[in-house]
Amino acid sequence: MIDTPSLLPYRPPVKERARKPRIYTLGDFYCRGAKLIMANTILVGAQWGDEGKGKIIDVLTQKADIVVRTQGGNNAGHTVFIGAQKYVLHLIPSGILRKGKTCVIGNGVVVDPVGLVDEIDGLLKLGVAIDGNLFISETAHLVFPYHRELDAQREILKGKNKIGTTKRGIGPAYGDKAARTGLRLIDLVNPSRFEQLLKHKIKENNEILKAFGAKPLSFAKVHKTYRAAGDRLRPFVANTVVLLHKAGQRGENILFEGAQGTFLDIDHGSYPFVTSSNTTAGGACTGSGIPPHRMDEVVGVMKAYTTRVGEGPLPTENSEISDLLHGMGREFGATTGRPRRCGWFDSVATRHATMVNGIDKLAVTNVDGLDSVEVIRVCIGYRVGVKQFDYVPNDIELLTKCEPVYVEFPGWKQPTHKCHQWKDLPARARTYLKALAELTGASLWIVSVGPSRDQTIFL
Ligand code: GDP
Ligand code: IMO
Ligand code: MG
Repeated sequence: MIDTPSLLPYRPPVKERARKPRIYTLGDFYCRGAKLIMANTILVGAQWGDEGKGKIIDVLTQKADIVVRTQGGNNAGHTVFIGAQKYVLHLIPSGILRKGKTCVIGNGVVVDPVGLVDEIDGLLKLGVAIDGNLFISETAHLVFPYHRELDAQREILKGKNKIGTTKRGIGPAYGDKAARTGLRLIDLVNPSRFEQLLKHKIKENNEILKAFGAKPLSFAKVHKTYRAAGDRLRPFVANTVVLLHKAGQRGENILFEGAQGTFLDIDHGSYPFVTSSNTTAGGACTGSGIPPHRMDEVVGVMKAYTTRVGEGPLPTENSEISDLLHGMGREFGATTGRPRRCGWFDSVATRHATMVNGIDKLAVTNVDGLDSVEVIRVCIGYRVGVKQFDYVPNDIELLTKCEPVYVEFPGWKQPTHKCHQWKDLPARARTYLKALAELTGASLWIVSVGPSRDQTIFL
């Protein structure tokens, strides 16, 4: 058996948690401990993405004034149900579905402008108002067709070692940003500058595409499509750093909508099987221009089990739970439709997520997915031969070899989707959820028992 003391839930030392006192005015409705009163809140995925962030953001938006996306691109797929209507958001913050809220696509996001126009049109068709409530950072970088093509070509070249990307061009677009050769929204809305810069980029990338044996792109075609998208997006383009700071000065509450999940983070994830942005809490600061000491709390969203889409290690992957969930028509990717790989809850991973994100509060979703399971397993440690780990090792080969050490919980074997309060949940479900929070090292705040708004329990 693994060393028990090392398996104690991660508890950050008090000093690490202490925050600078902030002076509040009467206008601020910040109050720690109250149920749905917001401050500047970062919401992150505590696993491998698709934790149900969209649903929780939609619920929390009630008490926020502004919702900001700060990283990633249209690789994200955030699902929200309002009644029977399903919405899948890719670039636009999920907060857009609530009237009177402002939504911001921050500087850290990579924007496919054609995809964004399609997303706006799709929402307009569904009756969602997008008028004066959406702003896009002028310094957000653009995704081009050559990024998507390079993404696809690199995956082909990698063969069995492929990452399993969404093929949305995310890696190559962030690559251009880091290489300081990217184009931004501020360029897109300046026609003469855009034409000149794009000409150069298409020429350069056509050479690379030719080397891959791929078809070169037509400058005229890309230029025309992107100029049209630029004209549509011009009214939304703004200096969002200044906008957010002014909102902060007015005492408005900002909710930062994370995309992807902790283990897809470019620095803290299972590299190279990651995305190309900082999906962890720090990304909310760099991707919005809001400094760390203005952030009040971090909410970690996690499923009551584990899923991952794409390649890379997933220590608790299990065919029994995969078959069960897929058989229920659940766990298919919101962006690519790929079946998600499923496994038992991995508390080594979520405890690690608490460490790197500073998670204060937890939202546990998809509890109803386990309603029919006889014996529920939870991973509390990893083992490789005689070596034991209570953290996620960085060496990808080592992580691939990790065998989970499980504890078992008796299933509650009854439906939870109609539970509206903590006390309505079966006792065994409550025991299970308390254990997940204890092992993760943060306080349980929200329990979700279905995709709808009213299937949300606040503790
Ligand atoms: P995100 O990327 O983190 O926003 O998550 P996705 O939208 O990609 O995937 C989460 C899926 O779980 C979506 O289909 C949601 O509608 C669904 N969902 C979220 N919470 C619950 C829940 O508590 N129960 C059920 N049954 N579905 C949920
Ligand atoms: P949301 O926000 C789950 C995964 C891809 C792949 C890896 C790299 O809905 O949780 P990329 O296209 O980003 O270069 O792919 O990251 N991935 C996601 N998995 N949810 C997501 O977003 C994801 N975005 C990217 O499957 O493994
Ligand atoms: Mg998703």
